Amino acid sequence: MALVYDPFLHVAEAAGMRAARKALLEQATGRVIEVGAGTGLNVPHFPRKTRELILVEPEPPMRRRLERRLRRSGRQAVIVDARAEQLPFADRSVDTVVSTLVLCTVDRPDRALAEIARVLRPGGQLLFIEHVRADSPALAWWQDRLLGPWRRFACGCRCNRATVELMRACGFEVEASRASWRAMPPIVRPLMSGRAQLRGSVHG
Ligand SMILES: C[S@@+](CC[C@H](N)C(=O)[O-])C[C@H]1O[C@@H](n2cnc3c(N)ncnc32)[C@H](O)[C@@H]1O
Repeated sequence: MALVYDPFLHVAEAAGMRAARKALLEQATGRVIEVGAGTGLNVPHFPRKTRELILVEPEPPMRRRLERRLRRSGRQAVIVDARAEQLPFADRSVDTVVSTLVLCTVDRPDRALAEIARVLRPGGQLLFIEHVRADSPALAWWQDRLLGPWRRFACGCRCNRATVELMRACGFEVEASRASWRAMPPIVRPLMSGRAQLRGSVHG
């Protein structure tokens, strides 16, 4: 997966995902933690003014590529080996959590969201781009049908996961817009991009 990840996404990055990452990450402030940082495609887009940047990635081959990209970028950041379901950070210690194309893959997204909620400061934000279950019943049917093969092909990715609904069920208020992951297979094209904040903590 790590070997083919960047080449596989190359066209889709150029077709809009790179711009979407940049627009999202411009909103990152303070102490920032990215979960599932992968090969580091977000690294160039974090604002220089962020106080601290921590990149969390559990898979060693992904982490090696992340280390290389971070070195080449000249950015200051710390790479941490951890899973989103068990973040090694204190309660209420993080201003911004970033998750792009990750909550589809984690085994227990409810636990990951509970951990994100735990580490966020009051008023803190989760910035995300996730591919999600389609609104269109026909496409959702295909997502259900192709879940198994896609999951094997894409290292555990669930193409039919209703991630934004799950965020809401886990206590987040979500402001998000729909987009399309252009140049990708239709079952992963429906995207949601935006900000989630814990209900009741929006104004800190
Ligand atoms: C599809 S890649 C996305 C990588 C990167 N965020 C991006 O936008 O290109 C999913 C990443 O999530 C990582 N991952 C898988 N399970 C995870 C978990 N439980 N906690 C954190 N990261 C996880 C994978 O190792 C992989 O790097």
